Amino acid sequence: MDLAKIKKDFPILSKKDALIYLDSAATSLTPEPVLEAMDAYYRTYRANIHRGLYKEAERASNEYEEARVVVARFIGAQADEIIFTAGATGSSNMLMYALEHTDMFQEGDEVVTTIMEHSAVLIPLQAFAKRKKLNIRYIELGENFQLDYEQAEQVITSKTKLVALTLASNVLGTINDVTRVARRAHEVGALVIVDATAAVGHMPVDVTLLGADFLFFSGHKMCGPTGVGVLYGKKSELAKLTPSFLGGGIIEDVTRTDFVLGLKPWSFEAGTPNIAGVIGLKTTVEYLEKIGVEKIQTHCREILAYAQQELQKIEGSTLYSAEPAYNVGIVSFTLDTVHPHDMAEILGKNGVAVRAGHHCAVPLHTELNVPATTRASIYLYTTEEDIDALVSSIKKAKEIFNI
Ligand code: ALA
Repeated sequence: MDLAKIKKDFPILSKKDALIYLDSAATSLTPEPVLEAMDAYYRTYRANIHRGLYKEAERASNEYEEARVVVARFIGAQADEIIFTAGATGSSNMLMYALEHTDMFQEGDEVVTTIMEHSAVLIPLQAFAKRKKLNIRYIELGENFQLDYEQAEQVITSKTKLVALTLASNVLGTINDVTRVARRAHEVGALVIVDATAAVGHMPVDVTLLGADFLFFSGHKMCGPTGVGVLYGKKSELAKLTPSFLGGGIIEDVTRTDFVLGLKPWSFEAGTPNIAGVIGLKTTVEYLEKIGVEKIQTHCREILAYAQQELQKIEGSTLYSAEPAYNVGIVSFTLDTVHPHDMAEILGKNGVAVRAGHHCAVPLHTELNVPATTRASIYLYTTEEDIDALVSSIKKAKEIFNI
């Protein structure tokens, strides 16, 4: 990977007061080709999709549908298994509402999730379970910030109707063995939902290898635009769902009293979607494919290993971060009694962008017995020099706090 060249692709990194950006797990940066693709849509062929019969509208529709093909290829799916949404949270809510309106779940059934989940999964799942009177069971943490797979085998039983788990933790970086959990889930006839938000664009993701029935992610964690995401639904499972969000663009026929829905997956995209965002997402995938996701993953592992090594040397530091071999590039840490928000503020004043808090993963922090952590997250443009800047800013913070 030509790191210098890659850095130049991200205009925000070249501005005079550019940050040392270690907050890609909150949102990643956008490369020039993606900016250009979205700009071109707005400047040269802005039109609604699937409606107009003039050349700009045709081009917009073609680009939008081409994005479905490109995104599907990226995760080993078919184009008609891809629904564009507003992001992972939009996907997760859409899916939960759709599942609620099936007859797949009976009072007292169990849903299984993990202690690592982000609120985007956990909150819609909890609300769904409450409404359907289902019991939630958890796959717990095992050794080395990994899931306890033996306990997972026990907790998934014939009562389990659904297993929802993250492919990669947004706090620990841990890449979970989704294939293993999905195998067990399918043995008992449960559906498998995968939150791939921290993983797509950071490691190869293949829905079939994972055993995902549904999988979702956001564009903005993989160098794509904000406000756009994907919900993948395996054709046979998607066929069982009915969209809960209704409106224009999804209707085959309408009378005064009734309507007939059009084909899936389009019937899950009521209203005018985020056209520029979807077109930007297509270019994002092409950009990442050109560099190579495996190369990006190797780079992130190397930088992560360096970050863990250097952070460990700082007296008083505690790291909450999986081994680089199964980590997407995230290291969360605490330093003695310094509150992570104070740490993040001092780092920010030194031009180093990190995130502090519970990172929308409160039960995980409760389990780790820390109210909050400071998180540095790594992506394709991160360098060892960025990590050196982080470490030297932490040392300055130590001086300020006199520890
Ligand atoms: N999910 C995002 C994060 O982990 C916002 O920071």
